[in-house]
Amino acid sequence: MSDQKANIGVVGLAVMGSNLARNLASREGNTVAVYNRTWARTEELITEHPEAGFIASESIDDFVASLATPRTAIIMVQAGKGTDAVISQLVERFEPGDIIMDGGNANFHDTIRREKEISPTGIHFVGTGISGGEEGALNGPSIMPGGSVESYKTLGPILASIAAVAEGEPCVTHVGTDGAGHFVKMIHNGIEYADMQLIAEAYDLLRRVGGLEPSAIADVFTEWNKGYLESYLIEITAEVLKQTDAATGKPFVDIVLDEAGSKGTGVWTVQNALDLGVPVGGIAEAVFARAVSSKPAQRAAVQSVVTDRPEVQGVDASFADDVSKALYASKVVAYAQGFDAIIAGAEKYGWQIDKGNIAKIWRGGCIIRAQFLNRIVDAYAENANIATLLEAPYFAKAVAEGEAAWRRVVSTAALSGVPVPGFSSALSYFDSLAQKRLPAALVQGQRDFFGAHTYKRVDKPGVFHTLWSGDRTEIETEPSTH
Ligand code: 6PG
Repeated sequence: MSDQKANIGVVGLAVMGSNLARNLASREGNTVAVYNRTWARTEELITEHPEAGFIASESIDDFVASLATPRTAIIMVQAGKGTDAVISQLVERFEPGDIIMDGGNANFHDTIRREKEISPTGIHFVGTGISGGEEGALNGPSIMPGGSVESYKTLGPILASIAAVAEGEPCVTHVGTDGAGHFVKMIHNGIEYADMQLIAEAYDLLRRVGGLEPSAIADVFTEWNKGYLESYLIEITAEVLKQTDAATGKPFVDIVLDEAGSKGTGVWTVQNALDLGVPVGGIAEAVFARAVSSKPAQRAAVQSVVTDRPEVQGVDASFADDVSKALYASKVVAYAQGFDAIIAGAEKYGWQIDKGNIAKIWRGGCIIRAQFLNRIVDAYAENANIATLLEAPYFAKAVAEGEAAWRRVVSTAALSGVPVPGFSSALSYFDSLAQKRLPAALVQGQRDFFGAHTYKRVDKPGVFHTLWSGDRTEIETEPSTH
């Protein structure tokens, strides 16, 4: 082994790890050490990329010895047990002041636990969300580090050097302590699920109600990508729809099995939002839509009994424009829900999260990157304490302008028998917030009837119960605890 030391190391050289290591090596001032559980993978990487000047080690001991002190290592292995195994190997060998960064899609609860376990050793553990897929890892991802402020002093400049740049600023910020980075990455993925589902519903409507072929829909999306819907996901959707299957000559989208998979981050978002009491219906519907698609037996069973399908409603040339407005309004709702979850998570876990900075680092590199995020940056710059993004003047106006189209699209979809769980749940959420009175009052009455769960009145303070099985008079009482 040479005497040269690396200022940063990467453990785990599957695609994301290799690309991140190559990205690091391409930036001036970095010497990158690499290590993988199997040497063959390391050998392949260093042979294919001699230009990177990697310091490669066959053993974890040599890897640790190849790092300049204080040591900084980025773990890019599969989230879960694999991560714990690598962490303990490093913790055994690292010294106080060294930094271990987990760049995988870890569950933030694991990150909080790991940080707690490691911090007494004096080693910094930094859970970091990285978004942008393989391409982003190589050319510039959006990076969401948690961990201590102190560790960010060392890690921040290194991460800034490899991050995407949006409007002249690197897409990285210290999100908050311990699990904050992985929490925010989880919410990013939840929003990603919602955005993808909404785009898929728009496609389905344009095809089944609008009668357009995939290649024509690709053109519609390409047009949309020049306006207020501009985003990476709209751009790649046009590419996917343009694709023709070489074997059959059919549109690619028609030869793909329509059962959507997932790796869990969307589910985590919804689980945690439920725990936090934050309504994230748009994200939940996107997770459920994947689940419904992946239930072939139930789909076949219902298809066998439902023979009389509604007739597709006739629409005019303005339908695509209506769909774009419905998509935009639904997307505003999904982002509003995601940011609500960030605010609630920050409060529960004691993180100081700057919402505007999160919107800023999502403008480039990540899967949900879009012009749209600039509007969120503006909204929080104007007033960091708005109750919901839907209240921000720009979004309030955009939703108001699209509202009639949104309603037309959702009703046309319902009448045509085209499922739009994302569009319709977003509209119901908006309508719920917009009501002066909700039927929740009746739910309170029902709860009080069967369980004496009590209720509050609109006209005076206090907690009340009606003696439903007695003379039905009202008594003032204590809040129910059962
Ligand atoms: C990213 C992506 C990436 C991955 C997710 C979602 O930000 O780069 O979100 O993390 O695509 O794991 O994948 P699933 O759809 O398989 O859950």
